[in-house]
Amino acid sequence: MRIAISTGGGDAPGLNAVIRAVVLSAINRGWEVVGIKRGFSGLLGEDEVVTLTKESVRGIAHLGGTILRSTNRGNPFSYPRRQPDGTFLPEDRSDELIENARQMGIDALISIGGDGSLEIALKLCNKGMRIIGVPKTIDNDVSGTVTTFGFDTAVNTAIEAIDKLHTTAESHDRVIVMEVMGRDAGFIALHSGVAGTADVILLPEIPYDIRKVCDKIMARDAAGRHFSIVVVAEGAFPLGGAVHQLGESLPGQARRVGGVAELIAREIQDLTGKETRSLVLGHLQRGGMPTGYDRLLATRFGGAAVRAVAEEKWGYMVALQTPHIVAIPIEEALRELKRVDITHDLVQTARASGISFGD
Ligand code: F6P
Repeated sequence: MRIAISTGGGDAPGLNAVIRAVVLSAINRGWEVVGIKRGFSGLLGEDEVVTLTKESVRGIAHLGGTILRSTNRGNPFSYPRRQPDGTFLPEDRSDELIENARQMGIDALISIGGDGSLEIALKLCNKGMRIIGVPKTIDNDVSGTVTTFGFDTAVNTAIEAIDKLHTTAESHDRVIVMEVMGRDAGFIALHSGVAGTADVILLPEIPYDIRKVCDKIMARDAAGRHFSIVVVAEGAFPLGGAVHQLGESLPGQARRVGGVAELIAREIQDLTGKETRSLVLGHLQRGGMPTGYDRLLATRFGGAAVRAVAEEKWGYMVALQTPHIVAIPIEEALRELKRVDITHDLVQTARASGISFGD
């Protein structure tokens, strides 16, 4: 048996722990493992395919990033091909990829990725490739799994930032608006905001009214709390308004959003007269060492993915359905994006403890 692993889309702390668990579990079964570099690019001759040994994965479980590198511009079904005039046109290179994998003697592929990569994996599976998916995203927006690795690390990074902002905001009687990742789902904002005791949390799932945000800030001010912390997901948008886009995307790349924190900060300052600052936590959330929780989950996913290969569960994805790791059809996971349930106990408790969602 010769299996391949690829990591696609935005990276997430824990990817290396998955790779390590896959490589060790597979080699201990007597299988061979190769790593496809930069998403699927290695299978299109745009990067390498490397042999992975026990030696290649020594001492990587605690490291962020991915030893296989990643890309969010490598969809083989619409691969950006540079034209003579410098522009790019999408090209379907999926047949070429499947043929290359066949020639390399790859019997099965473990594809680690978010909704975009899982969708590609499913399409390749439908064309005959033998694939097992491993869900990955710091945003925690993949359905069918309680959580994804990387999310806990990102939340802890955001909490640490909120803790630090609290002390400086209080010293200066300022409002600070902190933007976290979460294009379509506000899990990072909700979890870090509640754990970090933010005063306002704005999510893509609850369109906000800036006046309600300011009411909360002014009510705190009147009660002698002259500072406030607002945590906003990058995909949050005002009632009747739109998500703030972040310039042009590169060829083959999903739409980029962001910059909403600065807009909100300006509006708060104008409406309340309170000095307001903003910051974007950005890719800090994707970097660094995975937490113990993420390392364990990633390791469990890697081990389960190899078992799923042995059981020939092609087109399935490993998932956490507490307390077990199960395998579910990728199709099921992709049916709809997981988003914050606004009736969830965490939202109720946040509201009950005085946090405003700007609605
Ligand atoms: O993994 C998804 C995500 O974290 C989104 O929340 C964010 O919009 C995106 O990645 C940013 O990715 P990049 O800047 O690498 O394109």
